[in-house]
Amino acid sequence: MAKPMRIVFVCLGNICRSPLAEVVVRGQAEKRGLAHQFEFSSAGTGDWHIGGLADARSAAIAQQYGLDLSQHRAQQITASKLSQWDWFVAMDADNRESLLAMGVSVERLLMMRQFESDSDMIADVPDPYYGGVHGFEDAYHMLKANADALLDYFIKGTD
Ligand code: 4NP
Repeated sequence: MAKPMRIVFVCLGNICRSPLAEVVVRGQAEKRGLAHQFEFSSAGTGDWHIGGLADARSAAIAQQYGLDLSQHRAQQITASKLSQWDWFVAMDADNRESLLAMGVSVERLLMMRQFESDSDMIADVPDPYYGGVHGFEDAYHMLKANADALLDYFIKGTD
């Protein structure tokens, strides 16, 4: 059997968006019977929250949709760790730039909303940290809306 694809979702702090992306996409892979093909994780480009829990607002949204973030502990992604993953999924353009600067190859780097439209402009999953709960609800729906297309890409579009 092929080795699982190791996917990391990346945001800035690894407490709001990327942990939610991890559980949303894993949940969708489980629903589709694809979970055994993947190892999902998440990380932040910043170091402020290393070892910390998911933001309470992200945890609450996850719980509202039947997902669990209680086990999440934030980690930072750094150049020395890149070999731990096969694919990198950035939440926004800044995260993408940070990953490229770290040495992630452009062929292994996707945006979370990569497949949402045919336009060349790929939208961000905006950082909800400084806003209210609506930003977290919006983030959840953006993640959910993009989960299947990402999974399809990984299972069909890659070797
Ligand atoms: P995230 O949100 O990148 O979606 O986890 C943030 C969390 C923390 C900070 C910024 C964004 N911060 O500046 O501490």
